[in-house]
Amino acid sequence: MRLLIRFLTATMFLLMTDGVAAQNENMDESKVNPYTLPDLLSSNGKKISNVKQWERSRKPEILSLYQQHVYGRIPGRPSAMHFITTSIDRNALQGKATRKEVTIHFTAGEQGPSLHLLLWIPNERIKSPVFVGLNFDGNHTTHADSTITVTEKWKTTSKNKAILRGSQSTRWQVDTLIAHGYGLATAWYQDVERDDSTGWQTGIRTTLQESLQITPKEWGALAVWGWANSRIMDYLETDEQVDAKRVILTGHSRLGKAALWGAANDKRFAAIISNNSGEGGAALARRNFGEDVKRINRAFPHWFIGKFKDYSFAVDQLPVDQHMLLATMAPRPLYVASALEDAWADPKGEFLSAWHASSAYALYVKKGLPSSNMPPVNSPAGKWVRYHIRTGKHDVTLFDWQQYIDFADEYVK
Ligand code: GCU
Repeated sequence: MRLLIRFLTATMFLLMTDGVAAQNENMDESKVNPYTLPDLLSSNGKKISNVKQWERSRKPEILSLYQQHVYGRIPGRPSAMHFITTSIDRNALQGKATRKEVTIHFTAGEQGPSLHLLLWIPNERIKSPVFVGLNFDGNHTTHADSTITVTEKWKTTSKNKAILRGSQSTRWQVDTLIAHGYGLATAWYQDVERDDSTGWQTGIRTTLQESLQITPKEWGALAVWGWANSRIMDYLETDEQVDAKRVILTGHSRLGKAALWGAANDKRFAAIISNNSGEGGAALARRNFGEDVKRINRAFPHWFIGKFKDYSFAVDQLPVDQHMLLATMAPRPLYVASALEDAWADPKGEFLSAWHASSAYALYVKKGLPSSNMPPVNSPAGKWVRYHIRTGKHDVTLFDWQQYIDFADEYVK
């Protein structure tokens, strides 16, 4: 009896101190509640029916709602930013590619905050289209090449002290990209801000707040990583081997969320790929399946601005849903990808979001997804908005890259 009372008291205490504990995420499709999405194509009760109305009023309105309620603002480039090429190998991959390492310095001199870029470009072309994507574990993990620099920043910031060269190489498929005439630019995301709740104190939200004219509270970490993608673009525009009009932004998972918000703010990216970006990325927030707003806010409070916490228990009050973010990419080619074993990211919610976003593409007379039914596994569907769900886990695989290459061949190259 005493044990039972102790157990009940402890449980009640837990429920009182952490209301979330009582409400686990729903992983059962039959328990998805009905929901009503904000109307993508209406503004103050007025129907949006053409590109002009969309570009002039609805799209800026949506971007500003995301700024104020979800991710925060993305500032421009710091005026003292400059690039220093630290290595160049014109004979990489048996002569098929040029491999460069470039440091993007955000302040004058070389001591301030910086981002270390690793770039592969095919040698067979004069100018190549390039895929861009931040990596999770450091540039040296993206390819087995033993001469890729392990940066000082990585050594002092990374929690994982083991140097695992090439451990993430299946996620990058450099050889396949080069063989198809594409370059790849990648950088470690935590170069700009450490991924934890105090990361902002040492990251660029603090170190660059004066030069960027933005306070740390005005943007969250996802916006910071989105900003980093744009600074990579700034460099790519200066590289003679790069076709800067054909740069495709990619991102996996949290970096997919960051890529979406980054691309929404930077028109220079010619196409956008969201790989398993899930909650806070492509997945509809109102569909209560997998990770949800309260959970993401609790686990990753630093990713979003403070205001987003208001919606942890009131997602229906959120003035946007993620189909609206995807729609802001229109008319640029957009690819949304899910994985069968990635229920946490809510594949169906990612799909439906892309389906609803397709109506913005229709304004430009561009076909998006053909149907509101999910396509079969491993069978991409759609034109300017394309979607696939592949077999396997939360990851980026060769299958994914093959589809992205085909998509880029068709709509970007
Ligand atoms: C966690 C998080 C997701 C995120 C993922 C990742 O699972 O809940 O929102 O996408 O990490 O970045 O790998």
